[in-house]
Amino acid sequence: MRFVFLGPPGAGKGTHAKILSEKYGLDHLAAGDCLRRHIRGNTELGLKAKSFIEKGSLVPDPLVNEMIFFEIRRAQGKKGFILDGYPRTVGQAEAFDVFLTDSKTKLDRVINFAASEEVVIGRLSGRRVCQQCGMNYHVTNIPPKREGICDTCNVALVQRKDDQPETIRHRLEVYRTETSPLIDFYARKGLLYDISADKNVAQLQAELTLLFDKIQAVGA
Ligand code: AP5
Repeated sequence: MRFVFLGPPGAGKGTHAKILSEKYGLDHLAAGDCLRRHIRGNTELGLKAKSFIEKGSLVPDPLVNEMIFFEIRRAQGKKGFILDGYPRTVGQAEAFDVFLTDSKTKLDRVINFAASEEVVIGRLSGRRVCQQCGMNYHVTNIPPKREGICDTCNVALVQRKDDQPETIRHRLEVYRTETSPLIDFYARKGLLYDISADKNVAQLQAELTLLFDKIQAVGA
């Protein structure tokens, strides 16, 4: 199964992609996590991407396309993937179409996590992440068992630099202008599945699990 998770920052794409990829044995390919790994590793891509990410702007298409195609090729042979945060511009989506055709691969669905601005601002301001395992928490919505400490890795949680109020506002503007046109792009292809991401995690998981089960049954 192959999915794209689309939606504004803070809609919950990463949270749900992590749970569902483990449940269905899929690869979770998160563009933002991958770029942050390159930054931590001081790779050539990481050095180029750093300033864009810290400002909340998009990393140029050619760099991101190359990185994602490499990750998908590396994951080939597994049961499929969830692409979290890619594509994010019409240019990326067009390049991705060519990649899919060349590799004789099809997408099953593009899940559009529709969330109100008020909700995403609240989620991003309270998000805390574990840099070791990538788990996302929220100070009030999804708190760790011990305040500020990852349940699994037992290390201190951190706040992402791009989760500061000014940068959040800029990321939302970038989403509106550059990413939201992909809703129509994938609707025209008949691939779009809309969900209201303002609900709580359990409600959304139940809805997504129904969809994944249905697609898995058709493909089996
Ligand atoms: P990226 O890391 O992908 O950030 P993003 O899209 O802005 O998405 P987020 O991770 O902020 O949100 P999310 O929807 O995953 O929400 P989450 O599950 O964490 O990208 C970062 C940067 O990298 C970009 O700004 C750009 O510079 C660059 N980049 C990435 N992809 C790129 C691309 N394709 N092209 C160019 N540049 C690219 O949830 C948020 C919080 O809410 C968490 O605290 C969570 O615990 C909580 N939460 C989640 N769901 C719920 C719920 N239902 N109820 C209550 N709380 C919830």
